[in-house]
Amino acid sequence: MNEKFSKIGFILAVAGSAVGLGNAWKFPTLVGTNGGSAFIVLYLILTFLVSFIIFLGEIAIGKISEKDPVNAYKTLAPKYKNGWKFAGVCILGAILIFSFYSVIMGWILKYVISSINYLPSDIESSKKIFQNLLSSDLGVIMFYYTICVVISFYVVSKGVKSGIERLNVWMMPALFVFLVLMLFYSMSMEGFAKSAEFMLKPNFSALNKDSVLQALGLAFFTLSLGVGTIITYAASLPDKTNLVTSSISIVFINILIGVMMGLIVFTFIFEFNADPTQQGPGLVFISLTTLFAKLGIAGHIFAVAFFVSLLFAALTSAVSMIEPSVVFLMNSYKFSRKKALLLIFIFVYIMGIGCILSYQANTASSFTFFNKPLFDLLDYFTSNLLMPISGIIVSIFVGFIMKRDSIYVLFGKYMSKDVFAIWYFLLRFIAPAAVLYIMINQLFA
Ligand code: PFF
Repeated sequence: MNEKFSKIGFILAVAGSAVGLGNAWKFPTLVGTNGGSAFIVLYLILTFLVSFIIFLGEIAIGKISEKDPVNAYKTLAPKYKNGWKFAGVCILGAILIFSFYSVIMGWILKYVISSINYLPSDIESSKKIFQNLLSSDLGVIMFYYTICVVISFYVVSKGVKSGIERLNVWMMPALFVFLVLMLFYSMSMEGFAKSAEFMLKPNFSALNKDSVLQALGLAFFTLSLGVGTIITYAASLPDKTNLVTSSISIVFINILIGVMMGLIVFTFIFEFNADPTQQGPGLVFISLTTLFAKLGIAGHIFAVAFFVSLLFAALTSAVSMIEPSVVFLMNSYKFSRKKALLLIFIFVYIMGIGCILSYQANTASSFTFFNKPLFDLLDYFTSNLLMPISGIIVSIFVGFIMKRDSIYVLFGKYMSKDVFAIWYFLLRFIAPAAVLYIMINQLFA
């Protein structure tokens, strides 16, 4: 019998998993490089038509089976059980994401500490500091990275209720309060109006051929889809929870926080005439820090609050990446939680070091594969390939393999027959076709 979340604990834990660096870091960066609100429109369409639909599918797999993904597929498949259990291999994706995600957490923690008394005043020195951290300060980055990994594993070692739920129940509201305060502060700045315009007035000509795949990848990434996390959390969902309203609130919180974060980031960018279209980590780690510096002491407070918010958002997501593999090892091999954690720790810690080394000047070439540093490769592989493919598998499994009646028993209490029929149709045909179409288009573009 699984340990169960409380109702609010479940919503906050899933929202905590969803809201993370995807919203706080990828979202503003992609919005910036893809011309602002047109990209947001694309992201919203894909969220509602594809990822939210698949999200409900994962909830169904988790709740009906009450198992980890591997055993869930195996239990629910009427035949070919041993074949279907391979769909559960997607849990590996979650720990691959953890491997590079925890490195970014290390950067963030470093910035929390250093922003207390130092912020670079010009872009050149800011760039240098960030690049040094990535390419030569191995000791520093290893130190902060290790702290972040250990904290994440410590939380998961405490279990579902006293570890994961407890963390989310206080960190998610704290994150929200921080964001509201920062948003109010941003509203008092002149850049806010431009930021709002950039985020709200669509300019479709700014979209390029990669935008659709990137929006799809983001829609999967921000909802933590395709890597078994939602299935695993749903297995600990308390009975009599209104699955539909809870899921809608989670998606809503996820979008809201992304938009709030974007408004804050772009207010600074426009206030100080910086460039909103920078690629990669530059936007947050290089530009923003120099812009905060212009505000004097308030800037230091703002910077610390900003990076602490990022860290909170990231930590609540990081723990959700570890849990699926832990539950799998506990169910399948009767490992204790501690033993399962130790094994996963060894794997991700080494992979994470590989990611760090793939950016270090001396070692980069040995950790570059297919022309991409290991760090970027894992990000690309998980968001743009593994998550969408696994999303297609979820929709086929729930739509064609599981019994429609058993799914209706789960959702019928909370949605009308017609709404259920629409969701089921979208899940069986539209969501997988859209994902496939976008991926094929991208591959042969
Ligand atoms: N949803 C998280 C974010 O937006 O940062 C990322 C994530 C969490 C991906 C958990 C996958 C996962 F299993």
